[in-house]
This record gives sequence, structure tokens and C-alpha cells, in this order.
Amino acid sequence: MTGGAGFIGGVACRALSAAGHGVAAYDDFSTGHDWATGDARVFRGDIRDRAAVEKALREFRADAVMHFAAKAVVPESVAEPGLYYDVNVTGSLRVLEAMRAAGVSRIVFSSSAAVYGEPERVPIEEGAARRPINPYGRTKLHFEEALEDHRVAHGTSYACLRYFNACGAAPEWGLGEVRSPETHLLPLVIRAGTGGPPITVTGTDYPTRDGTCVRDYVDVRDLADAHVRALERLESGRGSAYNLGSERGTTVREAIAAVAAVLGREVPSVDGPRRAGDPPALVASCAKARGELGWEPRRTIEDSIRAVLEFVRSRGGMEVR
Ligand SMILES: NC(=O)c1ccc[n+]([C@@H]2O[C@H](COP(=O)([O-])OP(=O)(O)OC[C@H]3O[C@@H](n4cnc5c(N)ncnc54)[C@H](O)[C@@H]3O)[C@@H](O)[C@H]2O)c1
Repeated sequence: MTGGAGFIGGVACRALSAAGHGVAAYDDFSTGHDWATGDARVFRGDIRDRAAVEKALREFRADAVMHFAAKAVVPESVAEPGLYYDVNVTGSLRVLEAMRAAGVSRIVFSSSAAVYGEPERVPIEEGAARRPINPYGRTKLHFEEALEDHRVAHGTSYACLRYFNACGAAPEWGLGEVRSPETHLLPLVIRAGTGGPPITVTGTDYPTRDGTCVRDYVDVRDLADAHVRALERLESGRGSAYNLGSERGTTVREAIAAVAAVLGREVPSVDGPRRAGDPPALVASCAKARGELGWEPRRTIEDSIRAVLEFVRSRGGMEVR
């Protein structure tokens, strides 16, 4: 697994182990943490280093790859597109080349709802137009297309899992989201509700029920479960894409209210301007994952908030360590 020391990769490592799979984490620890990899064998390296990826695949005798490693902050992708194309496209191609050299032909790829850009309608189905509106989304789309070309040319089997907004934690495994700077809404709202700075609501004039952006928050444990299913059902020579969301749209104000309700206290917020490139509403249809993977989003946003609070309390705070 690449990116196994990251937020979603770490939880997927444990879920795979729990399902009886041997797991190795290949990671450069640029945003990952050494406490996140658990019992997985660790290979420290950059995905852009094809030879090192190949060596790890051979040493571990890998028979499939889960590819989580990426740069994944949208505003940073606008400011530094070269870095995003280098890691997310070139680096991902290096992983594919290493797989071919090591005789590994199955890959589960962490794609994103960002490939859809501003969808014409919600809920979004997998066949919707993919017109990303930022460099991050474009890098994910480029690699999705590269996977299909490799399937045709070399028989690579792949599943692109398009996550919506990943959230939550897996406190039972001591895992959760720890970033610096924090960029995701729910951790920022929880921080605001537990003595941190007020949360800024970025845009209050969207055409939505309360004027704030609608997003689909999907629990990281549900995502990990989808990865295990996608891997176990990956058919030889086949390529598929699946949306992974909760199928529930939540506005920013509703997310703040949900955190306040779980905490039992007010969460301070201030209204701010829109951020460039934020679509008004992103909500997944997961009918395809339900039908083909037998997967269901099982946790609600309140479950995810409770899990984050448990994780934060177990660490004694939200700061990066
Ligand atoms: N978090 C979300 O809401 C979300 C939504 C859609 C898609 N995704 C995708 O899911 C994947 C995992 O996201 P996450 O939230 O766990 O992020 P994360 O930053 O916690 O994890 C990424 C991991 O990849 C590693 N990494 C980065 N660049 C690397 C490189 N060049 N070589 C080797 N390792 C490298 C990091 O050290 C980290 O451990 C990413 O591909 C991301 O684009 C995330």
C-alpha cells in the first residue's frame, strides 16, 4: 500500500489486516505518521522512485497495490501545480511501472469527487461528466485515464474509488486525522468547539438551503471497508470506478450544528467570503458500490464526530505529534 501512514491509508491497513491480508506500507512520511502504520511492514520511500517501489513490491511479494499516496490539498494544488502533477501523475505512473516490472497487475486507486468539478446534478453517478475545476482534481482524472489505458494495453485490473469528504477516526485502532495545517472542515469545527479559534464559514450565498456549501461526509472506517471489498472483488482485466459517500448532503452550517449537538455546547463561527473553486453541492450516489461491492455507508456524520472526539481525547489534544 502506498500512503499507508496517512489518514485513510492507516485505517485501511488495519482493516486489511483484520480481514486476513498481509500489508506493507510504502510511504515517504511527508504528511503521514509513524504511529499510523500499526503492524504493517514499513518501506520508507517516495513513489516517484520507481526502483524503490519495485524493490518493495518484490521484497514483500505483493500481489496487489492500494495507492493512497498523493498530495491532496486543493488550494496548494492551485499554488503549486507542478508538485501536484509530479507526485500525483508522474509518481503514480512510476507505481504502475514498478508494478509491471514486479508482475503485479491489480490496483485500487484513491480517486476523488474532485474529478467531477461542478456537477450538473446531485446525487452524482459515476457516469457523470468528469470536468475537474482545480489541478488536484485534474491530476486524479489524468491517473484514472492512465489506468484505463494500462488496462487496455497490459491487462491491469483497477478500481478507482472516488471518495467524497473523508471524515471520522478509528479510535479503536488509535487512528485519526492529524495534519498541519489542518484543512478539513470537521476537524476545524471540532477544534473551534473545544476552545480553538472560531470556524470561518467560507461562503454564505450559495444556491443551497442555508446558503453554505453542501458536502457528503463519509466515515473513514466505511472507506476502509470499501477498499477491502474492492480488492477482494477485483476481477482480472477489469476496470471500474465507484463513488464512496454517505449519500447525505450536509451544509457547512449543519456540520457546525452537528458538532455543537454532539459536544453539547455552542461552536463559535464567523462568516467569510467564498473560496475559489468550491462547487455549491457535492453528494454521492453509491448505487454502483452497493450493487457491485455489496458496500453500504453505515456511519452517520454524528458517528464520525464522536469517533474524532474519542480519538482527540485519547491523544490529549489535536496538535500534531
Ligand atoms: N481525505 C479526503 O477527504 C480525500 C478525499 C478524496 C480523495 N482522497 C485521496 O485519498 C488519499 C489519502 O488521503 P488522506 O486524507 O489519507 O491523506 P494523507 O495526507 O493523510 O495521506 C497521504 C499519505 O501519502 C504519503 N505521501 C505523500 N506523497 C508521497 C510520495 N511522494 N511518496 C510516498 N508517500 C507519499 C504521505 O506521507 C501520507 O502518509 C489521497 O490520494 C487523497 O487524494 C482523500
